Amino acid sequence: MTRALPSLIRRRLVGEIIRHAVPLGQLNCLPSEATRSADLGLGLAYYALARILRPKHIVVIGSYRGFSVVCFALALRDNGLGRVHLIDASRVDAFWSDAQRAKQHFSRFGVASLVSIYNMPSARCAQTVSPFRDNNPFIDILLLDADHSKKGVTTDVAYFGALVREGGFLCFHDSCAGGVGKTPFQVAEYLATLDVELYESITLEIAKGLTLVRKLPAVEMALDIQRRRREVVSTLADLAGCTDLPTKIRFELRRLKRSMEGLLAAVKQKERLFAARHRYLSNSAAACRKQITDLKKELRLLRSTGVAIEGTAASRRRRNTE
Ligand SMILES: C[S@@+](CC[C@H](N)C(=O)[O-])C[C@H]1O[C@@H](n2cnc3c(N)ncnc32)[C@H](O)[C@@H]1O
Repeated sequence: MTRALPSLIRRRLVGEIIRHAVPLGQLNCLPSEATRSADLGLGLAYYALARILRPKHIVVIGSYRGFSVVCFALALRDNGLGRVHLIDASRVDAFWSDAQRAKQHFSRFGVASLVSIYNMPSARCAQTVSPFRDNNPFIDILLLDADHSKKGVTTDVAYFGALVREGGFLCFHDSCAGGVGKTPFQVAEYLATLDVELYESITLEIAKGLTLVRKLPAVEMALDIQRRRREVVSTLADLAGCTDLPTKIRFELRRLKRSMEGLLAAVKQKERLFAARHRYLSNSAAACRKQITDLKKELRLLRSTGVAIEGTAASRRRRNTE
């Protein structure tokens, strides 16, 4: 029996995705160049994640032209199960507000039947639309790529993070991005407030950053909490049985040392996140400076060519009139 090739091996489709689903965050060259190199960048990460995890429900909050949605949906099509829910309030332009056009857009990639579109602000969707308002965790992968202010990310995590199943993933795009114009990009600041001890997370430092956070199964967390509680109880019992002060102080100091080590590990994790963000921003600043130099060179070349063409045309005109 022959099986169809996985979607993303087909080069023509990759070109279509880059041209029409527009990966804004990773376009640091012309779309035509990106299409020629057929590099889907983060799109491959979205596709791989969905192929590996075989999710039933993926929720994407915010997408300009559906790049993440298409890459996820192609994986679901190759898996033979699952659905992508796109929530977008059309804050950038009205692209998603025409339901018919939105459906046709996804048909181009053969995934229209796998995508549900909710054209409204995420908070309203969480409060009014089932299954989001039902408080039953059902999301396997959640991608936040909408309001990047700290307040916006915090609100979206409060509403939708609670709907991610144990062992599911919360993904944050633009986790390494700095402020652009008047848009606040504060995803990294939000992430630094998470209690990292409770999560597993990794940041891919490409295309403005993608941070994947796995919601640990409650049983793992519960066991950990139980272990810590037992430790505290036995320490207290030891302290209670202690008759001489110096021993008690020694115990106390050891306990404080352990909790300080825990805090230190959490701070180090936050430092790593900021260092990653800083490295990313320095690299993109250097890339921007190089692009500006190249563009200036091209402009000079164009101007001198233009002058030469102008000169030739003028002398031709003169010859014709003589
Ligand atoms: C510009 S896209 C993000 C692009 C992405 N970073 C990339 O690299 O392709 C952000 C989308 O989020 C949507 N959006 C912003 N705030 C929102 C909110 N509160 N609820 C739903 N969608 C929102 C906007 O309409 C927009 O389409």
